[in-house]
Amino acid sequence: MVRATKDAVHHPLFARFYARLSVSAEPKVGPLRDELLAGLSGRVIEIGAGNGMNFSHFPRTVSEVVAIEPERSLRQLALESALRAEVPVDVVPGAAEALPVKSEAFDAAVLSLVLCSVRDVRRSLSEVRRVLRPGGELRFFEHGRGGGRAMRTAQRALDRTVWPLLFGGCHVARDPVGEIRAAGFDIETVKELVTPTKGPRLPSSYYVTGRARRPELGDLRG
Ligand SMILES: C[S@@+](CC[C@H](N)C(=O)[O-])C[C@H]1O[C@@H](n2cnc3c(N)ncnc32)[C@H](O)[C@@H]1O
Repeated sequence: MVRATKDAVHHPLFARFYARLSVSAEPKVGPLRDELLAGLSGRVIEIGAGNGMNFSHFPRTVSEVVAIEPERSLRQLALESALRAEVPVDVVPGAAEALPVKSEAFDAAVLSLVLCSVRDVRRSLSEVRRVLRPGGELRFFEHGRGGGRAMRTAQRALDRTVWPLLFGGCHVARDPVGEIRAAGFDIETVKELVTPTKGPRLPSSYYVTGRARRPELGDLRG
């Protein structure tokens, strides 16, 4: 008998919510996705690709995208987005903590609004490092801790209570840049963004986007 395997991530309500939210946010977020992916080339892995909102933003210099997505309904939507993409995109089930691909197989990796949601940030980043070739590039667009002391306290309290339950395992008090550096990447650029720019800030208002690199072989930090 063949048993149905359990998905690594199962958040059907959040998946439906995110599929709508991400499409309606595209006029604002689209330019950030363009900036995130500009200039990439060769083989690229995107981890936690969701419904595939990045796919139409990959430049044609990319020869292939392997898009890992653990949530079944988002993965189905990603498959549809892949058909419309201008570069070949292979949508694959899997989780960041155990990427189902060979070591050193990719020129670049993309993390876009996903480190907030993975179960184990360190293991996930160690996997990203494993699958990137030495000298390979990591592009990231993430949200995390920010604001003053009161906001950071609130973020930590939310992470321990309702936020992950309401938003598909998302956390708001993580430190993506610190974690990427701690995983052995060289940080090359970081840009901080706060959205909305006016009015009250939300716990999820603090974004970072940038580039990091797996050190070349022979670099003792690697
Ligand atoms: C906020 S969505 C972002 C989707 C997409 N990257 C984007 O930029 O629109 C977070 C994504 O992370 C995925 N995710 C959650 N846990 C994960 C894990 N352990 N490994 C890989 N992806 C995961 C979710 O299924 C979801 O697709």
